[in-house]
Amino acid sequence: MVDMIESVLHEDRVFKAAVGEGACFSSMGDYHAMCRRFEEDYEGTWADLARTHLRWREAFTQDLDDSNPPFYRWFADGALNVAENCLDRHVQAGLGERTAIVWEGEQGEVRHLTYAYLLEQVCRAANVMHSLGVEAGDRVVIYMPMIPETAIAMLACARIGATHSVVFGAFSSSSLRDRIEDAAARLVITADGGARRGGVHALKPFVDEALSEGCHTVEHLLVVKHAGCDVSWKAGRDCDWHSLLAESSPECAAIALPSEHPLFILYTSGSTGKPKGIVHSTAGYLLWARLTMLWSFDYRPDQDVFWCTADVGWITGHTYLIYGPLVCGGTTVMYEGVPTYPDAGRVWQICERLSVSVFYTAPTAIRALIKAGDVWPNRSDLSSLRVLGTVGEPINPEAWMWYYRVIGKERCPIVDTWWQTETGGHMLVPLPFAMATKPGSAALPLPGIQVEIVDEEGGKVSHGGGLLVVTKPWPSMLRGVWGDPARYVETYWNLFDGQYYIAGDGARRDGDGYFWIMGRVDDVLNVSGHRLGTMEIESALVSHHAVAEAAVVGRADDLKGEAICAFVVLKESRVDALTLRKHVAAEIGPIAKPDDIYLVEGLPKTRSGKIMRRLLRDIVMKRDIVQDVSTLEDRAVIEHILATPVQ
Ligand code: WT7
Repeated sequence: MVDMIESVLHEDRVFKAAVGEGACFSSMGDYHAMCRRFEEDYEGTWADLARTHLRWREAFTQDLDDSNPPFYRWFADGALNVAENCLDRHVQAGLGERTAIVWEGEQGEVRHLTYAYLLEQVCRAANVMHSLGVEAGDRVVIYMPMIPETAIAMLACARIGATHSVVFGAFSSSSLRDRIEDAAARLVITADGGARRGGVHALKPFVDEALSEGCHTVEHLLVVKHAGCDVSWKAGRDCDWHSLLAESSPECAAIALPSEHPLFILYTSGSTGKPKGIVHSTAGYLLWARLTMLWSFDYRPDQDVFWCTADVGWITGHTYLIYGPLVCGGTTVMYEGVPTYPDAGRVWQICERLSVSVFYTAPTAIRALIKAGDVWPNRSDLSSLRVLGTVGEPINPEAWMWYYRVIGKERCPIVDTWWQTETGGHMLVPLPFAMATKPGSAALPLPGIQVEIVDEEGGKVSHGGGLLVVTKPWPSMLRGVWGDPARYVETYWNLFDGQYYIAGDGARRDGDGYFWIMGRVDDVLNVSGHRLGTMEIESALVSHHAVAEAAVVGRADDLKGEAICAFVVLKESRVDALTLRKHVAAEIGPIAKPDDIYLVEGLPKTRSGKIMRRLLRDIVMKRDIVQDVSTLEDRAVIEHILATPVQ
């Protein structure tokens, strides 16, 4: 595993921490002081923070329950409600007229939703869900575009204790069906469609298609009419969001839920099998959403306008588009549309127009914007920006420098946040106004987070690369894999006998103790900041009747980070690369479409029949085939592959 880690970067630029008057952490001293609090009393410090930062309906007396590792529980005998913490609390504090969400549509429409209005809408939606038979403990799948109703649907679930599972709107109907079935959802919330690149991306037909087979637990479909597309309607099953909300009561009491109640399930790819449903808790998750907003971004809810460009269908959208900003009582920007529509100036115009002060995006988006040229950002006044964040994949130093110079004008700290769906919130962060930054390094663990780099035996590595692990349970950690406790243990804990949480990333530390993430060490690709399992794409390819066998590997790509390369062995019948791409898009979604397809006669295998993916990776990376190929069953296979053109 470890030998897959890419060669060590040579980057020695260091930028001093910017001065931030009154910042949450304004020096390394502040950081060390907080770390010391955790060292002195780990569980007690978390408990203090949980008491101070969240509103409780029932106080807790238990901090960490580690009686059944790795199934950890935090603050387990307490009770609270996430929607109450995100809405009622602020309205009652007199912030009802503050803008909670500023939404901008692709055509330039703008909506300001205040906390008071959002609360009312959430109550109405919660009542509608009740009337459709949804109860605490039920699952609700949300398949929506980037519109305020998506946030309303999520918070309405939280209000009544239904566990939501948001499915990214660009996933195919069969991916959607898999998730609905795995979660055994009772209700699906969707829209007719969403805006995309000047046109409309229909959503409801995908839901209809998904529900046409299986999905027996789904009783109703709640449809937001947003994009104005024609949709078919199944009487008795399909319900109209707007008319039902209008008829329902604007009041709905938030129920007190146990700290460990599952707030949501979010599916993510792994190295084996189908995507797994990562389960997050109520209290621990919300606590870290709030603390990381305040700590990592030095977020000031009364002044900042925060814009996280992630889609709500990913964990970044959950924690930093919805829950984080709202639990802090701040203003969050939601943009429905493509960041480069109608041109590459769109993002910067929004920053200027809405006075965005904290901007959070992915390296892949930064690289696309760099390609478009400096003229675009230079046309906008970006002086409102204060902190710039990145997430999703390692940021290449060139992109970092551009972000720092051209966007931040060397004033704004760059916050490179390393974390995962499983961690719920940030883990490694260069704290703005406290830490010096190095282009490409996620710097140090946040206070309370204990990480190490270990070798394959679990021994701590002080120099060089190794596996990144978390050595202590933390409140926002995943609580498991939905419906599959064994897979949770197997995937994240077994390698080191339950001692460490295994992140699946390789990393190294430099002389200052800074962490440098080197990428996944498993069969997971990071394509434009999105996680895709190679096996998942292989299964999609093999499900085509003309495909006998397939192997998928990643190769470095300037824009996407990693591109998808597929080696496909066909049966008798002939199909072309385009058909295969379409098939994968229909099976998983357009993001999983292979960039490069090689139609080959055979795959390189070991004598025991295992596909040698490393060898294929070398081929696509055009590296020398340095590995020992003595175990190869048939060397001619390699010769043939090398002679095969890419399609
Ligand atoms: C994987 C997690 C966390 C939200 C977005 C992706 C990679 C994430 C960074 C970063 C280097 C990063 C890792 C990680 N990753 N952030 N700042 N530097 N790599 O969430 O889909 O769960 O993917 O994304 O490989 O394991 P995810």
